[in-house]
Amino acid sequence: MRIKARAGAFNGIVSLPGDKSIAHRALLHASLAMGDSRITNLPSSDDVLSTLNALRSLKVPIRKTSRGEVIVMGGGGEFQSPDSEINCGNSGTTMRLLMGVLAGSPFESKLIGDKSLSRRPMERIAKPLRMMGVKVHTSNGFPPIAIEGKIPLKPIAYELPIASAQLKSALIYAALFTDGESLITEPIMSRDHTEIALENLCALNYKREVSESVIKHHVKGRFEMPSFETTVPGDPSSAAYLIALALLTPDSEITFKGILLNPRRIRYLEILKMMGGDIEIAESGKELGERVGDVTVRSSDLKNVEIHNKDVPSIIDEIPILTVIATKSQGEFIIHGAEELRVKESDRIASMVLNLRSVACEVEEYQDGLRIRGESQLHAGSINHKGDHRILMSLIVLSMVHNLDLEFDDLSPLSISFPEFLDFINLLSK
Ligand code: S3P
Repeated sequence: MRIKARAGAFNGIVSLPGDKSIAHRALLHASLAMGDSRITNLPSSDDVLSTLNALRSLKVPIRKTSRGEVIVMGGGGEFQSPDSEINCGNSGTTMRLLMGVLAGSPFESKLIGDKSLSRRPMERIAKPLRMMGVKVHTSNGFPPIAIEGKIPLKPIAYELPIASAQLKSALIYAALFTDGESLITEPIMSRDHTEIALENLCALNYKREVSESVIKHHVKGRFEMPSFETTVPGDPSSAAYLIALALLTPDSEITFKGILLNPRRIRYLEILKMMGGDIEIAESGKELGERVGDVTVRSSDLKNVEIHNKDVPSIIDEIPILTVIATKSQGEFIIHGAEELRVKESDRIASMVLNLRSVACEVEEYQDGLRIRGESQLHAGSINHKGDHRILMSLIVLSMVHNLDLEFDDLSPLSISFPEFLDFINLLSK
């Protein structure tokens, strides 16, 4: 399929499907709670469906209302043994967070994933869980995973070797199934949705101390979580691609209503503002402790910047689209400290380097990042999204903002995080 390069601008006011990270957690927390929780604006993406179906295979009753809300009938974290393997599809968040929750379930489960997920590292979670007394078997460090939990688990004192919200969350969940107090320390803060939800739902069990150099998470075992009602705020990581289109296309202006404004998720917007982006952020309230508001973005002339290690965890999913923006901005874009990108749905450094080079962009690849020369004259080449949803959406934006006639053989990865992506592009370009 060819994506038509657009001559026109992008304009409109939109509300986006709910944030993927919060949606996974809302489903998990509802299953840990006692009673019925109601979740509105749950995205229909495949990744979130993987978490929903995983909970169903652990016999958590979940139903959808005619208004599209999801009701989860939580049993306080007491799951039942699944009848077969739990398929996590493409979703690393499903598999890793579930490992933390299953750590406290005294039966064996087997977790499997698709080809991409089967190449993603899992020992980072398995190792600390074993220290807590969980039986975990990986396949040479990768899925499939066999996990047999128990209760109570041993509390843990653990320093996270990598800035990863998935690892941190898994350990926080496991620590809820101990009889004591665990301490998890984090050198650079990754997204903190698990922490914010627990501060709101389970304050007796979870506290954090934040200082300049380290974040300390104190988790007490044996929890009681109340059921809750929530509306999942719009996903800023899905907005990122539409924001790029608005910034880079003359005469454009898009307003995103009710979007998640968690500071660990909008560093992308702050970096774009530093680059000269005309972006307004107006906070309007909170949803289960998460900041929410409206964001307006207008066409802008941008200058490239250098990005350092400490910013990487807060823009981890936006780096591919930032590299596309860099191709249209003045000067050089440089990023270091992003080696974690090599173990995402694809090796996202290699994927972007390969594709940008194939459209004649000057790129230098580093083990932990890349350098791009901005304002290059690009021309059509053959592209390969490697089955990775964020690479595919970045390449679609690339083709539109540079008027490149690129051929996309398979658009199915869009369903992983943002199935409505092309519909929103059509809506905004009317
Ligand atoms: C996520 C954490 C991030 C991110 C992923 C979602 C989460 O991974 O890339 O898309 O919901 O916890 P890390 O574990 O590298 O932080």
